[in-house]
Amino acid sequence: MVVEITTRTMHAEPPAIAEAARILKAGGLVAFPTETVYGLGADATNGAAVARLYAAKGRPTFNPLIVHVADPTAAARLGKFDAWASALAAKFWPGPLTLVLPKADRCPVAQLSTAGLETIAVRVPDHPVAHALIEAGGRPLVAPSANRSGHVSPTSAAHVEADLSGRVDVILDAGPTRVGVESTIVACLSERPVLLRPGGIARSAIEQVVAGSLAALARADAPQAPGMLASHYAPSTRLRLNATTVETPEALLAFGPTLPPGAAYVVAVLNLSPAGDMIEAAANLFAHIRALDRSGARAIAVMPVPREGLGEAINDRLTRAAARR
Ligand code: TXA
Ligand code: MG
Repeated sequence: MVVEITTRTMHAEPPAIAEAARILKAGGLVAFPTETVYGLGADATNGAAVARLYAAKGRPTFNPLIVHVADPTAAARLGKFDAWASALAAKFWPGPLTLVLPKADRCPVAQLSTAGLETIAVRVPDHPVAHALIEAGGRPLVAPSANRSGHVSPTSAAHVEADLSGRVDVILDAGPTRVGVESTIVACLSERPVLLRPGGIARSAIEQVVAGSLAALARADAPQAPGMLASHYAPSTRLRLNATTVETPEALLAFGPTLPPGAAYVVAVLNLSPAGDMIEAAANLFAHIRALDRSGARAIAVMPVPREGLGEAINDRLTRAAARR
């Protein structure tokens, strides 16, 4: 259900980078090179842009994304660095290291970028084009690997074209990527850092910095599908799915123009998209659940959301959130 758009592949010269930055600021999608693999970039602070990115990738679920910034100072506005995180950043940034950190207090990143989590994955890529694009855009960029969901990560602009032509606005071509595998992901959320994903920086190099403190992933033998590595956002209020009625003391998470009987009397109502637009609904999903979770309602009644387009991912997350208790 993705609308075909015209994809322009441009050599990553300064005018093309400036044009790509304008497109990002307007909520568009730009594939760009990093030192690891090509990323599919969107403005991390724009929920609708991030929703369009998920639609372009064809992901059946919302995985949290890596937020790319130009330098460590910008990273410090997004996440809270403990001593290990600071040491790792000092040693490996810019470079193929992603740090998962507690979100900073006034983190400007959209809820959908982190799939509603209170943690954030941040990285400072070591590529002149990535750096120039982030600087020109003046905002952090979410960038998953620029492939269709389930396909391998792209290390050239031709790979990106093969997967995403007709789904993204611009592909910036700067030749093959240097590292060729994704960044190493390390979570710094408790006393001991945890290696979440092996990647461009070897475990031994990480271990040299954290001096024997690297904790093993609790389920190292579990399937290493990337999405499995991140825990899911779970509200503390119960969710009642596919609700066609609503009663006090429930809150209502609505979708579309027609609300169920009783909606006028409930604790709180938030509408994912009064017009029934899936991009808008995805952009609002986590922020609305969070707000209703704080409303004091006994349960959150959730209207049915069609499974078309991003509806599959929206339903996946609603089902997970509802299964929590
Ligand atoms: O090298 C790379 O990291 C490339 C380039 C483009 O930068 N990007 C990349 O992104 O590989 P992606 O979306 O394919 O992988 C992101 C990974 C996923 O496994 C996701 O679960 C994990 O990062 N992740 C993101 N935020 C997280 C969080 N808050 N907690 C745990 N894991 C997180
Ligand atoms: Mg990927």
